[in-house]
Amino acid sequence: MLRPIYNLSPMFQVKQMSPKDFSFATELANTMNWNMSTQDFEFMTQLEPDGCFVLLDDSKRVGIATSISYGKVGWFGNLIVKEEYRNMGAGSLLVKHAVDYLRGKGVETIGLYAYPKLIKFYSNQGFKADDDFTVLNAQTLNVSNKETLPPIGKHNIYAVTKFDRECFGGDRKKLLESIILEEGNLSYYASKGNEVVGYVAATVYETMAWVGPLICQGGNVDDAVTLLKVVLAKLTGLKVYVALPKTEIALADMLSAVGFKEDFSVVRMYLGPSVAKNCIYLAESLERG
Ligand SMILES: CC(C)(COP(=O)(O)OP(=O)(O)OC[C@H]1O[C@@H](n2cnc3c(N)ncnc32)[C@H](O)[C@@H]1OP(=O)(O)O)[C@@H](O)C(=O)NCCC(=O)NCCS
Repeated sequence: MLRPIYNLSPMFQVKQMSPKDFSFATELANTMNWNMSTQDFEFMTQLEPDGCFVLLDDSKRVGIATSISYGKVGWFGNLIVKEEYRNMGAGSLLVKHAVDYLRGKGVETIGLYAYPKLIKFYSNQGFKADDDFTVLNAQTLNVSNKETLPPIGKHNIYAVTKFDRECFGGDRKKLLESIILEEGNLSYYASKGNEVVGYVAATVYETMAWVGPLICQGGNVDDAVTLLKVVLAKLTGLKVYVALPKTEIALADMLSAVGFKEDFSVVRMYLGPSVAKNCIYLAESLERG
């Protein structure tokens, strides 16, 4: 059967995502069961208005991707091309566009989480595999805990974002403030003397929550476990997600003991020098690092 001419050589064009694109982006994302809502794209475009993109074939929307800059580090995510437009260079074009955008912002290292089957696709764009992560979830969580930790608020968020920068390599202040200072979300920190040695934040939705980032100094497993327990105990009854490196055995064991199971795995990849430090690191999300 003959294919329509426009499908043989589509004229792809990338434009900035606007609120009019949110329902398209959400529907496309949810063909992948990513469980997203228009608010997710609203949040993303508020954080990085010029870094969220829609791919057009003429005037037809056919794909999306998002990116975010944190100083010298950037993150890429939410890449999807409509099925009938795949294998025509559209996905590569979106990656290249976002990489050029981030480089223009002064970003030197770009991270992303890839499905293992897409390692070759991203390697072709120069990304290198760095670490294997597992995405776990627990249905209707129920964790009891007697320990307490102080919450993070306006008065101490500076110390937390400074600590985060030392582990993450980029300045995530705009992201962390949007999560930590938002009513309904949770955040706690651990300290030694006057120094922050670890923290956790969780984004809480109606029926689910994402726990992360959780950052601790390398080897400080005890504080990481306590931070996790304290936050999980506040999430009773919700479906809870968390993404962590497969090497964090102690944390994985603790999560498994309270009912978490692996949903899928991803590989963290970097374009540019690896910025991963010797820290315990649970992802904030797959699209923002
Ligand atoms: C990944 C995706 C965006 C690629 O878009 P695309 O427009 O097909 O990409 P391109 O045409 O530029 O490149 C296609 C290349 O990627 C490879 N590729 C694409 N999807 C693949 C898959 N699911 N498994 C293995 N390889 C895949 C193709 O084989 C091709 O490789 P080649 O050039 O060596 O032949 C698209 O497949 C998609 O939307 N997938 C579903 C969403 C998704 O998985 N997003 C990524 C999250 S990490």
